[in-house]
Amino acid sequence: MNFRSLLATAAFLAAAQPALAAPIEHKATGLSASSADAGMQITALTDSIIRVRVAQGGKFPEDASWAVPAAVRHQSVNVTQSADGFRTRALDVHLDPQLGLTVNDLQGRTIVADAANPLSFAGRGFMLRKKLPIDQRIYGMGDKTGGMDRRGAAFVDWNTDFFGFAPWSDPIYKSIPFYIGVASDGYAYGLFLDNSWRSNFDFGHRDADAIELSAPDGPIDYYVIAGPTVADVVRNYQTLTGRAPLPPQWALGYQQSRWGYSSDKEVRAIASRLRSDQIPADVIWMDIDYQEKNRPFTVNKTIFPDLKKLNTDLNAEGVRLVAITDLHVAYLPKQGYAPFDTGEAGNHFVRKADGSLYVAPVWPGPAVFPDFTRAATRSWWGGLYNDFVADGFAGFWNDMNEPAVFETPTKTMPVDNLHRIDSDDFAPRDATHSEIHNVFGMQNTRGTYEGMLKLRPNVRPFVMTRATYAGGQRYAVTWTGDNSSTWDHLRLCVQQSLNLGLSGFTYTGCDVGGFVGGASPDLLTRWYEIAAFTPVFRNHAANDAPHAEPWVDGPEHLAIRRKFIEERYRLMPYLYAVAEQNSRTGDPVMRPVFYDYPDALKFDCDSALTFTVGGKLLVAAPPRPESPKDYKVCLPSGGWYDYWTGQPVTETKFTAPNRLDYVPLYVRAGTILPRQPLTQSTMIKPTGALLLDVYPGQDCRGEIYLDDGISIKGDSLRQTVTCSVTPRGVALNFGARTGKFRPWWKQIAVTVHGAAPAQITIADHPKAGEVLIAAK
Ligand code: GLC
Repeated sequence: MNFRSLLATAAFLAAAQPALAAPIEHKATGLSASSADAGMQITALTDSIIRVRVAQGGKFPEDASWAVPAAVRHQSVNVTQSADGFRTRALDVHLDPQLGLTVNDLQGRTIVADAANPLSFAGRGFMLRKKLPIDQRIYGMGDKTGGMDRRGAAFVDWNTDFFGFAPWSDPIYKSIPFYIGVASDGYAYGLFLDNSWRSNFDFGHRDADAIELSAPDGPIDYYVIAGPTVADVVRNYQTLTGRAPLPPQWALGYQQSRWGYSSDKEVRAIASRLRSDQIPADVIWMDIDYQEKNRPFTVNKTIFPDLKKLNTDLNAEGVRLVAITDLHVAYLPKQGYAPFDTGEAGNHFVRKADGSLYVAPVWPGPAVFPDFTRAATRSWWGGLYNDFVADGFAGFWNDMNEPAVFETPTKTMPVDNLHRIDSDDFAPRDATHSEIHNVFGMQNTRGTYEGMLKLRPNVRPFVMTRATYAGGQRYAVTWTGDNSSTWDHLRLCVQQSLNLGLSGFTYTGCDVGGFVGGASPDLLTRWYEIAAFTPVFRNHAANDAPHAEPWVDGPEHLAIRRKFIEERYRLMPYLYAVAEQNSRTGDPVMRPVFYDYPDALKFDCDSALTFTVGGKLLVAAPPRPESPKDYKVCLPSGGWYDYWTGQPVTETKFTAPNRLDYVPLYVRAGTILPRQPLTQSTMIKPTGALLLDVYPGQDCRGEIYLDDGISIKGDSLRQTVTCSVTPRGVALNFGARTGKFRPWWKQIAVTVHGAAPAQITIADHPKAGEVLIAAK
């Protein structure tokens, strides 16, 4: 189909557009309307989220979704009707005779409005056009490459295995058809197009003034999410698609991986080296090397004779193991390979258009592909983990789930392959791979996640995925795939992680040092420094890339890398409290500065590598880390302290030195940062006092959150501490502690930062009360 000619015709026809085919039909919770060739239903799900469904040729698509659970889709609030639309308590919705939609706030400011020719069709395909105001930036869209701001670019959503993707390649692994439009004063809205087919997003690339969303098929089913802040949009997007559960705490530790750890001995050697070099670490990853001929759910016993013992021994050193289990199942009929035999017996594999079994090459050679769109198949898949869970693996890695297929230029299965959807509130039916492709990886991780929950009901599952779709954050954390060892990729990593966080996927990491090619010592060191502040901190490299463990470039580089890993472990109480906050609110762990401080949208510094952890800790890495040049740092107004010196920063724009062993870090004035004494693993209880670092300023507060780090249901401890500056000194106000979890500390060491720093150690403070740190 050719949308360009379609648009030309549509423009020509526009003058003669008929009015609505019938008057707007007002409903208690929205409206419906129709033109000559389409029907439309608009429903207010909440006061600030509306759902728009379009019936092409008069027929509404099935009301079902992989991303938005039925209970959420079917919620609604009452509206007040107006002549051409309706109002909620936050929105004023108007529809014009061409079914053009305008959503305003109650003060009359336009949140989002359709452009000319708002809705056009070509066969089963469609295009939606929205206005792109001149001061609007675009964020979100998951792992898309290019710049942080997506304005001016066009993207395709089609999950693609892209070994060595370039910083501008598209499409890559994930499809998260959700974007956020942000005006220069921070006023924001979001739009989520819930269509799993190959789809196109053009943000002012073809037409500078328009956002064009199109797909060759599938439902026109989208949600407009009003702000007014970016945080409101991000939270409400997760009201629709779900929030990431709190991961096990060890997932926030340092993780060592490599494709090529090829024996029990080698994995043990990595663990001992981490310990002997005093590099805090929580996880070692086992890539396909442990398998028999790359066959998922097998073990090469010659090189890994006893995985249970390996798990037990490493656990004793505070190291957990995560194992890869790709989704493809080796095609080995009647050879005693249970995943194939039981899968075939249960009719669990994807079929070709002619109904025969689809077999195609991946790591194990010929392989078959579970049809994760069937609840029964997901449940069978989840059961395959039984032995590995019994061996003590802490988590699992679902890779290659775009799905990747070798020896074909499309890198995936034929689009006319058949799935047999039998899940959720979908009508049981056959669906082509065109419809399922983008949700395939997500449903793979759903099977794994739910399997974990069955096998270890009170343990938080840890699943890592490469491919996913909107809502996949409910099941898995992710990483950005096969990146390269270049400075551009380090920059890209920050952009992708931030946009993934805005797209619901806060638990994101990039292979530290790059997967392909081998990093220079400086690049690897810089990567460690920056990744130490990203949510998933995993060093990983390809089997033919040089080794990239922290020690590979000698003691000087190791010392810098270790220093940053250690700082992450010291900050663990803060990081964990931010993670727990994410599980309740959806606020990302790693955030663009403008998330909390909209004045950052007006910065005139190159802030490509500037972001915050939880809004209070600002990382201002050099935007061109490959250059020796010093650089400008811009801080939002309101006051900051230098994390390393504890001194207040008086300016909001200044020059930072560009030194390899240094990353400027700032703490927001008015923060109480909980920290802890260094440990080598989150499995090891710190000894000594809980550290509370107080940075006086407005609305001064900090949150303490603690639990056993692993259980779903169990005791926790929560306490808010606030501070105020009084003539007698700094008063710390401990709120009452809730929850019965017993902390590891008996004392609290308080440091008040500032021009006249002060330190005191007090007894643990479980009850509400004030502690005064007297002025000197
Ligand atoms: C894929 C993954 C990579 C992994 C490799 C071998 O390329 O993206 O991380 O190491 O497969 O399993």
